[in-house]
Amino acid sequence: MRPGYFLLIVLLLSLQSGFSQSLSNRYSEFFTIGVAITPRSTTTDEAKLIVSQFNSVTAENAMKMGPVHPQEDQYNWAGPDSIVAFAQSSGMKVRGHTLVWHNQTPAWIFKDANGQEVNKEILLKRLKEHITTVVTRYRGKIYAWDVVNEAISDNPNEYLRNSNWLKICGPEYINLAFQWAHDADPDAILFYNDYNETDPVKREKIYRLISELKSQGVPVSGLGLQAHWNIYHPSAAQIDSALQLYSKLNVNLQVTELDLSVYPSGPDSTFKPGTIPAEFTPQQEQKQIEKYREIFAIFRKYKKQITSITFWNISDRRSWLDNFPVRGRKNYPLLFDKDLKPKRAFDAVMNFQ
Ligand code: XIL
Repeated sequence: MRPGYFLLIVLLLSLQSGFSQSLSNRYSEFFTIGVAITPRSTTTDEAKLIVSQFNSVTAENAMKMGPVHPQEDQYNWAGPDSIVAFAQSSGMKVRGHTLVWHNQTPAWIFKDANGQEVNKEILLKRLKEHITTVVTRYRGKIYAWDVVNEAISDNPNEYLRNSNWLKICGPEYINLAFQWAHDADPDAILFYNDYNETDPVKREKIYRLISELKSQGVPVSGLGLQAHWNIYHPSAAQIDSALQLYSKLNVNLQVTELDLSVYPSGPDSTFKPGTIPAEFTPQQEQKQIEKYREIFAIFRKYKKQITSITFWNISDRRSWLDNFPVRGRKNYPLLFDKDLKPKRAFDAVMNFQ
């Protein structure tokens, strides 16, 4: 072989292996791979990792109603604008999160000038104004919105969550939110997004909500599965059954907030606040590697239905799970370590036939 050809082949091979070291390239035939970020992370050493590994971003907090619309006549655009600009300059997509939620709402939205609870008419008018303003601002720049977040109850005996939205407006706020988001950007894919989505009772309620909305002609076009899971739960069979059920809805399925906590869910009586940060043990590491391998194999099986997988936070340097549900307990839920280096679980996600 002529030396020129040989060099060319070596160059192509090394380029290919360089590319395949990135999640978004490895999964380009399957899904978009996203990550939840803060405005600050676009200015630190994390920015390089975001751009090289992912091709979609979500604002972890900056686009939520409380942060973006803290007073009736005040919007904070600096954070969300910087995230959208960063994504655009790096050729990444943006998922919008989120338009209606019971958490991180600004106090003013439910109250009148005298501190009394507002009526349905006023609250819906405020919600419409909020949704229209935010969605219009990013029209054509944000391709998908989590319109309604976590509206379903975790109580097996209750259908919808008894939030202020439901108490004041009734279930109609859900239909209207989708309609207003659609009017503001008819091209955006509009998601209902929730957690505990593999729970056998809750998954039926999620299925029911989307089916009912669709049969009423509401423009819901996606279901977001948060996937805040842990290394023990849910089982592969439970994830598979939920995906099988949701596939029948004929909407876009996206995994929107993936992380794998290294602790079982719920309170932790063994953790003592103020002690040295909990270590990432070899047992936790091994279980996490296996779980990441397992869940990505399931996701690939549903590649026709699933269009995107988004991780909730960038690396184990900082995760929302460092403080939740157990305050101050360090967690290690992601594919990159605190030095932003790929963990062994990363290889488990990347290596498949
Ligand atoms: C979390 C953020 O990660 C935290 O920084 C914030 O303090 C609370 O919210 N479900 C959602 C996300 O839809 O918006 C939440 O994000 C995590 C659970």
